[in-house]
Amino acid sequence: MQLLQNKVKEEGIVLSGQVLKVDSFLNHQMDPVLMKEVGKEFTRLFKEANVTRVLTIESSGIAPGIMTALEMEVPLIFARKQKSLTLREDIFVEKVYSFTKQETNEITVAKKFIKPGDKVLIVDDFLANGEAAFGLARIVEQAGAEVAGIGIVIEKAFQPGGRLLAEAGYRVESLVRIASLDDGVVTFA
Ligand code: G4P
Repeated sequence: MQLLQNKVKEEGIVLSGQVLKVDSFLNHQMDPVLMKEVGKEFTRLFKEANVTRVLTIESSGIAPGIMTALEMEVPLIFARKQKSLTLREDIFVEKVYSFTKQETNEITVAKKFIKPGDKVLIVDDFLANGEAAFGLARIVEQAGAEVAGIGIVIEKAFQPGGRLLAEAGYRVESLVRIASLDDGVVTFA
């Protein structure tokens, strides 16, 4: 997606060989016009998938997720990271380890929002090692629903998430793929 690639080029800040800061349009300040285009692009890419729900994880997945859900005219569900006050039998729970943050979160989704027969599109802002996407996919499968695909705004293709998800049989569509952040420069795949 050229518009997004230009934005990464113009505003992305390489923090290290591993981390790209995009807080001017995705992770802190959010660019709604760009997010609207992201939603349209995921809708175009997954138009044959008969998606019935979009699933993301708080917080930065919500903007691309809601724009995609709006365009598809289906509900958006965001997995919560905090422990829910809801009774445990009413929620799906998965553990997600973040290599970037070196912490494990329990992510939760209320059982009433994903049902057998649903075709769920998983959307997230970043794909690194794929832990978040795998955790969301396990929740969809716990529900007896189907993962229709995985839509990623920015994939760091030098980390293994994209390959691992594809090997597990998921269709992954990344709008921008980064081959390297070496020497402070963003190189696109
Ligand atoms: P993984 O799910 O693919 O394995 O990724 P990882 O655990 O490494 O990512 C943990 C958090 O760090 C996620 O945000 C993810 O979006 C973010 N992240 C990973 N790599 C980068 C990067 O290069 N740049 C930026 N800006 N973020 C990155 P999170 O903890 O869920 O936070 P948030 O959604 O509340 O912002």
